[in-house]
Amino acid sequence: MARSWSSSDLHLDWDPGTGRRGLTGALRSAIRDGRLAPGTALPSTRALAADLGVARGTITRVYGDLTAEGYLRSRQGAPTRVAAVTRAPAEAREKAGPASAAWLRDARWDLFPGRPDLSSFPRAAWASATRRVLHAMPAGSFDYGDPAGPAALREALARYLARSRGVLAEPDRIVVCGGYLQAITVLGQLYGEIAFEDPSLPEFRLAAARGGAKTVPVPVDERGLRVSELDSPVVVVTPAHQYPLGVTLAPERRSALAGWAAAGGLVIEDDYDGEFRFDRQPLGAVQSLAPERIVYAGGVSKTLAPSLRIGWLVLPRRLVTPVRDRMAELGWRPPVLDHLILADLLTSGAYDRHVRQRRTAYRRRRDRLLAALPPEFVPEGISAGLHLVLKVPDEEAAVRAVRRRSVAVDQLSRHWMTSGPGGIVVGYGTPAEHAFGPAVAALVEGLRAVATPRP
Ligand SMILES: Cc1ncc(COP(=O)(O)O)c(C=O)c1O
Repeated sequence: MARSWSSSDLHLDWDPGTGRRGLTGALRSAIRDGRLAPGTALPSTRALAADLGVARGTITRVYGDLTAEGYLRSRQGAPTRVAAVTRAPAEAREKAGPASAAWLRDARWDLFPGRPDLSSFPRAAWASATRRVLHAMPAGSFDYGDPAGPAALREALARYLARSRGVLAEPDRIVVCGGYLQAITVLGQLYGEIAFEDPSLPEFRLAAARGGAKTVPVPVDERGLRVSELDSPVVVVTPAHQYPLGVTLAPERRSALAGWAAAGGLVIEDDYDGEFRFDRQPLGAVQSLAPERIVYAGGVSKTLAPSLRIGWLVLPRRLVTPVRDRMAELGWRPPVLDHLILADLLTSGAYDRHVRQRRTAYRRRRDRLLAALPPEFVPEGISAGLHLVLKVPDEEAAVRAVRRRSVAVDQLSRHWMTSGPGGIVVGYGTPAEHAFGPAVAALVEGLRAVATPRP
């Protein structure tokens, strides 16, 4: 039976039979519904445990989980509080999805990070590959496919990933999935606790948490993930280009991470934009340092289009069956025709040509953006990918100023699991070529309005 916990004006409906998860859900609902306003101090773990008749450790975990999800903020020596609205709960955002948020739909200039230039999709190459595949494929290929993806694609990917990213990828260790979002959801079902870089994209943390994993933060500095602070069985890392800060994992930390993995940890390497490094030859994937302890994740969302929903995992051998089976249990059956078309693009060289052409285009865009920025705004991180972060003293004011010019950008604050500086995350990949100049001009105008001269 639901029990009501009352403290000042909050009533928490919680059925003790639902345990810790139920209690977490009840508190989450109270925050989401606005019954607990941002900034509200929660009772101490001891007081709430006594009130509800549960162990204090249970409350500590509930508070910890909701802090990781962005609903609560905790600081040593101070009461746990409901997080400020500037870091709106990730779940609420994810429901709409950043790409479909009302604000983004209405903005004239789309510099919201996360997507490539959709107008650059290689339609002609895709159409030619489709014709070739349809001509050659046997009738049996129209049947339900192997949940791991067709062998032709796994073989093509094994060659491509070894060549372009140095991944040790035999075809039978590859599971093709419906994008990284699906992959991290499934991995969240297989592991009880997963550490994420702090900051990182809340949507993926939330997906892992929905799968059932507790998500915990590991700090990131200018040399990437602080490997020495790892204290979880599993960690998600973006070594080639940390999302969102844009730094790369320093060589000694790559070795330390491989050592940590070899000692029993599991690393999930999210190589979401590894093809796009502009300043020099990209470092290969960390995966090759410990292939039986590192899951390599990649996909086509940045190179071709997110709507294709094609990603891949290169797995330690012992994980292939559990991951493939869990995906199948969740109803996954691969879109075989699209997979065969991608295999054709990979083997014909058309994929490489497209990636090379996009690399040049995005490098130019980055250069143009950097040249246009007011001198007060200097991004950190390496010359790579489709986004950059501009740290600002007053994030709200900066976001307001650029939105007033109808420019969509993301907010750095929502990526923190604990707390950190504010900033705006600018994606320069998405506008079509003709819209890029005006989009940058509008952004720069907004930034100038909030620029504070350097001393
Ligand atoms: C950090 C990061 N990882 C992975 C992805 C790819 O996600 P998906 O394959 O679900 O499109 C993205 C796309 O925005 C990303 O930003």
